[in-house]
Amino acid sequence: MELIGFIQVFNIIVIAIAIAIGTLLYMCCRSLTFFPSSSSAVDSAVADCAAVADDEDADIPPRREKYDVFISFRGDDTRLGITSHLHAALLQKKIQTYIDNRLKRGEEIRPALLEAIEKSTISVIIFSQNYADSTWCLDELVHILKCNNREGRMVIPVFYDINPSHVRKQHGSYADAFAQLEKRFDSSIDKVQKWRDALTTAANLSGFDHSNKSGTEADLIQRETPNVEVIFANCSEIQERPLKHADFKKMSNLIMLSLFGQLTSSLDLPDSLRYLNWLKYPLESLPSNFCPENLVELHMHNSKVKKLWKEEQILVNLQVIDLSYSDYLTEVPNLSGSLKIVHINLCGCGSLVEIPWYFQHLHKLTHLRLGRCTSLKYLPEMPGNIQYLDLKYSGIKELPESVWSNENISYLNISHCTDLDKLPNNRCELKVSDVLGIESCTSLGKFSELPRDISKLSLFGFTRLVSLPTNICKLKHLEELNLSGCSKLENFPKILEPMEHLKSLNLSATAVKELPSSIEFLPALKRVQLQGCKWLSSIPKSICKLKCLEELNLSGCSTLKNFPEILEPMEHLKSLNLSATTVKKLPSSIEFLPALKRVQLQGCKRLSSIPKSICKLKCLEELDISGCCMLRNFPEILEPMENLKSLNLSRTAVEQLYTSSIEFLPALKNIELEGCNKLSCISKSMLKYVKRPDLKVMESSDESETNESDDHGEYLRKDLFGETGALEESDGFIGTNLAIAVQIGSSEMRIEEIHIR
Ligand SMILES: *[C@@H]1O[C@H](CO)[C@@H](O)[C@H](O)[C@H]1NC(C)=O
Ligand SMILES: *[C@@H]1O[C@H](CO)[C@@H](O)[C@H](O)[C@H]1NC(C)=O
Ligand SMILES: *[C@@H]1O[C@H](CO)[C@@H](O)[C@H](O)[C@H]1NC(C)=O
Ligand SMILES: *[C@@H]1O[C@H](CO)[C@@H](O)[C@H](O)[C@H]1NC(C)=O
Ligand SMILES: *[C@@H]1O[C@H](CO)[C@@H](O)[C@H](O)[C@H]1NC(C)=O
Ligand SMILES: *[C@@H]1O[C@H](CO)[C@@H](O)[C@H](O)[C@H]1NC(C)=O
Ligand SMILES: *[C@@H]1O[C@H](CO)[C@@H](O)[C@H](O)[C@H]1NC(C)=O
Ligand SMILES: *[C@@H]1O[C@H](CO)[C@@H](O)[C@H](O)[C@H]1NC(C)=O
Ligand SMILES: *[C@@H]1O[C@H](CO)[C@@H](O)[C@H](O)[C@H]1NC(C)=O
Ligand SMILES: *[C@@H]1O[C@H](CO)[C@@H](O)[C@H](O)[C@H]1NC(C)=O
Ligand SMILES: *[C@@H]1O[C@H](CO)[C@@H](O)[C@H](O)[C@H]1NC(C)=O
Ligand SMILES: *[C@@H]1O[C@H](CO)[C@@H](O)[C@H](O)[C@H]1NC(C)=O
Repeated sequence: MELIGFIQVFNIIVIAIAIAIGTLLYMCCRSLTFFPSSSSAVDSAVADCAAVADDEDADIPPRREKYDVFISFRGDDTRLGITSHLHAALLQKKIQTYIDNRLKRGEEIRPALLEAIEKSTISVIIFSQNYADSTWCLDELVHILKCNNREGRMVIPVFYDINPSHVRKQHGSYADAFAQLEKRFDSSIDKVQKWRDALTTAANLSGFDHSNKSGTEADLIQRETPNVEVIFANCSEIQERPLKHADFKKMSNLIMLSLFGQLTSSLDLPDSLRYLNWLKYPLESLPSNFCPENLVELHMHNSKVKKLWKEEQILVNLQVIDLSYSDYLTEVPNLSGSLKIVHINLCGCGSLVEIPWYFQHLHKLTHLRLGRCTSLKYLPEMPGNIQYLDLKYSGIKELPESVWSNENISYLNISHCTDLDKLPNNRCELKVSDVLGIESCTSLGKFSELPRDISKLSLFGFTRLVSLPTNICKLKHLEELNLSGCSKLENFPKILEPMEHLKSLNLSATAVKELPSSIEFLPALKRVQLQGCKWLSSIPKSICKLKCLEELNLSGCSTLKNFPEILEPMEHLKSLNLSATTVKKLPSSIEFLPALKRVQLQGCKRLSSIPKSICKLKCLEELDISGCCMLRNFPEILEPMENLKSLNLSRTAVEQLYTSSIEFLPALKNIELEGCNKLSCISKSMLKYVKRPDLKVMESSDESETNESDDHGEYLRKDLFGETGALEESDGFIGTNLAIAVQIGSSEMRIEEIHIR
């Protein structure tokens, strides 16, 4: 028997080792269950168990030991390289891995380490240039080999940047290391010999080779192998490689083959294969003399396959097939006899026009991916066990009823199926649970019924949807409803029964005209997004019943003229955005929104007043009323607003700023007054406030009163009040030295001295 360790690119070898370890563990645990304590048991077990390899869902049977894998490595060479990558890859596969991370090691190997070796199913030895320099590593190795084959223990050597024959024969850097060791341990030459033997034995085991050499120089590594063979090769690196037919065909124990890339001539594959992974398979079909009877997993992502088999083949053991992004694939391989099939991935097979009818009889099939199968128009009925069905961006026009009515489906994605113009009708009991991805099905005009158990529903971009059925309230588990961009959606239905879990409602950029007052039956709502609803003309009073509401976004609702009185406190509303609406005023009952942190009213061109009660909003941090060009009065703040940091009054018509208020704003950082060309009076108490050193906006100088300087006056006019700004009416200003820093856009500008009469 032979094992070929081809020369690998770093990443693939790490992935390969992790896959191999996963597979070996799976088989090993299975075999241990059935055939205790024999390494040949692995082989027997292979006959009836699945090589699970890199499938994320596959579970490794409960382990018997403390660790699955022990990694022996020379820290200086590989700690930050292959070892850490391998460790990460193993962890990702939920493989319990012991790795000695201590940087400083004593002379003696710790008992804990010996125990870890004993309690690990597989030991991986990463041989690197300086591995033999460390007596610690060598002792570890000796112990690992002592445990090898005991109770199904396995050893996998990995040759990293070193020729295996140098390890085996202690040549090259290993010769140097041993010259040193022999000097150091001249009194215990037995020990040194033990180390040599260990290296020879270990390097004779089948494993993985990663070195700098290019494919052409790579020599075939032929070694004694255990009962299982695993090969990984990157064919694009192999040019005149001796990747001859015989290489594989005669390996009657080869169970796992993972290849990558180009190959010009056909290749014989052994019938023993259980796991075949060939990225970018270059030919139109698999070799006809390969009998795939044993295949459990077939992964051929991004292949050039047109028709997988030329002859009829029955893959009785197949569980997973992945032909994703095989753009030339014109027909699904005959899987009618593959009753064990669980996963089928045909995503991105753009030439595929049909899914065979017998799929409904594949009773173990749970995952079917057909996303981006753009030529696929129809689906047959689906098998009852199907759980995961991905059809996004596919060409399908209709969905079979068995999809809609299947209680086992928890994930269905038909988003971006722009040709889908019909959903199964009313009679179907809609059972899709959990996740339904349906956004951007631009041809879907109406719904009669929706699946009952879903938690998220996105109908984003349903540009033909005019209304929603009232039975939407039957979606008792719905947490998020996204209707944004349904530009024709005019009516949001009456909510007939409470929907206790709905937290987020996104109606942005829809054509809704009003919200039903029954919105109070959505008591869990935290977030309501109505931005850009140009036709929304009112908000029901019952909105105040939404006790959990935290965010209400109404910005850009350009026909919204009134914000309702708030009849009872809404304790959690933090953010209220009314920007670019046409509201004329805020209700004075705004004080019943005690948690408000941000109130945004920018560009409310009709807004003419701000209620005095605004100062009751003790949590308010940000108030933006910039661009409210009709607003002439900003109320005097008569009680402390401890948290107000930012007040934007730019481009308002505010005439006076009763700065008695300022002392009630201890947290204030920023007042913006850009373009307030009507501002004529800032009262005296502003000065106290202005003295605050942490205040960006205004600071006073302590110098005594000086007279106005026209130059400075102009400056002020231009930059504080804008080009057209008028200081003529500035009588209200207290004549004093003011140093004013004005924020214009983002750049801060400091006006040193301003004299105002
Ligand atoms: C295989 O080798 C080619 C050429 O060196 C490289 O571009 C590619 O990434 C390798 N494939 C893998 C999976 O490492
Ligand atoms: C591999 O390459 C590195 C740097 O490119 C070099 O230091 C090292 O000696 C090479 N190893 C082998 C086995 O050729
Ligand atoms: C290495 O493997 C070969 C082939 O199986 C075998 O003949 C040889 O005895 C082994 N050498 C050692 C030292 O185990
Ligand atoms: C598919 O295989 C089955 C046997 O498993 C066979 O009866 C059937 O004719 C095959 N279908 C096609 C289209 O080859
Ligand atoms: C759902 O799965 C269960 C268990 O596998 C099965 O018994 C049932 O028939 C399936 N449901 C449907 C609608 O086929
Ligand atoms: C459905 O697929 C689309 C496109 O990939 C994706 O954006 C969306 O999140 C998916 N929906 C769900 C619910 O997973
Ligand atoms: C709603 O859909 C839009 C557009 O696809 C997306 O940006 C947003 O994240 C979705 N929101 C929710 C809550 O699903
Ligand atoms: C709501 O929809 C708008 C527009 O598609 C999007 O920008 C926003 O992120 C969505 N909100 C949420 C919470 O998903
Ligand atoms: C509210 O809507 C506006 C306008 O679309 C958007 O810019 C803003 O991010 C939204 N606010 C939140 C908190 O989503
Ligand atoms: C409010 O809406 C305005 C304008 O659409 C946007 O710029 C701002 O970010 C929004 N603010 C919040 C807190 O949503
Ligand atoms: C204040 O409003 C103006 C005009 O809308 C804007 O340019 C500026 O960025 C705002 N400042 C802050 C801090 O939001
Ligand atoms: C300000 O001007 C008045 C009269 O124009 C003058 O009496 C006064 O001394 C001036 N004050 C200062 C500090 O220059």
